[in-house]
This record gives sequence, C-alpha cells and structure tokens, in this order.
Amino acid sequence: MKIGILGSGDVGKALARGFASRNHEVMIGSREPEKLQEFVIEQNGRVRGGTFEEAAKFGEVVAIATLFAGTKHAIDLAGPANFAGKPVIDCTNPLKFEEGKMPELSIGFDNSAGEEVQRWLPDSRVVKAFNIIGNQFMVDPQLPGGPPTMFIAGNDDGAKKMVTQLIESLGWQGAVSDLGGIEESRYLEPMCIVWVHYGMRTGSWDHAFKMLTK
Ligand SMILES: NC(=O)c1ccc[n+]([C@@H]2O[C@H](COP(=O)([O-])OP(=O)(O)OC[C@H]3O[C@@H](n4cnc5c(N)ncnc54)[C@H](OP(=O)(O)O)[C@@H]3O)[C@@H](O)[C@H]2O)c1
Repeated sequence: MKIGILGSGDVGKALARGFASRNHEVMIGSREPEKLQEFVIEQNGRVRGGTFEEAAKFGEVVAIATLFAGTKHAIDLAGPANFAGKPVIDCTNPLKFEEGKMPELSIGFDNSAGEEVQRWLPDSRVVKAFNIIGNQFMVDPQLPGGPPTMFIAGNDDGAKKMVTQLIESLGWQGAVSDLGGIEESRYLEPMCIVWVHYGMRTGSWDHAFKMLTK
C-alpha cells in the first residue's frame, strides 16, 4: 500500500521506518523536503521524501504527524482535495508550550484536534491513533507487560478497520481498541498530557498505557 506521511519529526520518521519495514511504499513530507535527504538515504530507497502536497497525493492512506499548531497550515499546503476519500491517521496532540510551565492542551473539553482535522478534511475519513504512545514504541513496542493499548477513534468503520490492520502489522496484534466516533479524541488527547506530565516528573519516557481487562 502507498502511505503518505505529513511530518518530518520523530513521529513521521518512526512511522515511515515502520511502514517501510512492512514493505509499504512510503513518502514522507515536509515544508523543506531537502532536510529529509539524510533520512531518505539512511532508509536505502525504501522511503521517499517530498513536499506535504506530494506526500498527501502519494498516499492511499495519509498519516498526519505535524505540530498541532502547524497542522491546518500543513493541510492547506498539502491541499485538502489530495486527502479526499482516503483514510487519514491523525497522530497530533494539541499541545500548548509555555516557558516554565508543564505542557497543556490548547483545545479540549468540547473540541479536540481529531475533530478539527476531520473538519479541515470533510471528505476524508479521519482516524485518531498513535497519540498516546511515545514514538520509540510506535513500532514493535517491547515492554515487560506486552504491547500497550492503542486506542483509536473515528467516524468511518471501514477506515478504522484498515487503520487497525496497519497498526496491528506494526507489532500491535490484538492491542487496538476502538473507542467510537472522532469526538472520543476529546478524551484521548488529555491522556497524552498524563503521559507527558508523568515523563516530566519522573525524567523517564519509557512508559505506555495498557487497558487491563478480566
Ligand atoms: N513525539 C512523540 O513521541 C509523539 C507521540 C505521540 C503524538 N505526538 C504528536 O505527533 C505530532 C508530531 O510530533 P513530532 O514530535 O514528530 O514532531 P513535531 O515537532 O511536533 O512536528 C514536526 C512537524 O510539524 C511541522 N510543522 C511545524 N510547524 C508547522 C507550520 N507552522 N506549518 C506547517 N507544518 C509545521 C514540521 O514541518 P517541517 O517538516 O516543514 O519542519 C514537521 O514536519 C505532534 O502533534 C505531537 O504532539 C508526538
């Protein structure tokens, strides 16, 4: 499958490596594709670099892994028509960073990044995923308690099924949990804050959420 990724940061690169390792064709996008040259070379031709527009056009599935404050801009640069009809994986968290303060959410309670992305891409089938897991565990998560839980949310069952299969192929077999519609992002995004604050307090980033059931 062809997978387009918007985002040249740690998440975009982790997903690009992961999907390429499962023999998908991957294009990763940036405002400055030239800065991806080293990464592309490191991937031995298994990942292509391009603009946001090229990556969105390329993907049959498109993942959005941009800083949330720049996500609308990235989508506008990519061209919303290039996402039309496609499953779109939204990995973003609407984080607000202020000097001397713990990160907070910039929106929430009655809104979420997942819902905003779905509004910006009304003709796409947005699935929230990967937002509560550190990039180092996005592919083949190795933790003593087994794989963590990957909660997803979205309005389209077909898109959620396809995204679930993609996530499972990255080492999350049986660990994907569907919370419901995209508005469930309102509850998933605050979980990222728990993850970040725990990391800042303990100075360790090797933690992840797992739902235990009897
Ligand atoms: N880091 C993690 O472990 C982790 C885990 C779960 C979820 N997340 C979420 O995933 C997303 C990506 O995180 P990240 O750490 O990989 O990288 P990031 O630093 O949050 O985002 C990097 C990407 O955002 C783009 N960007 C920044 N400002 C922009 C603007 N004004 N207009 C257009 N694009 C802009 C950059 O574009 P250029 O390529 O052009 O510079 C780059 O591709 C974030 O929303 C984050 O909260 C992160």
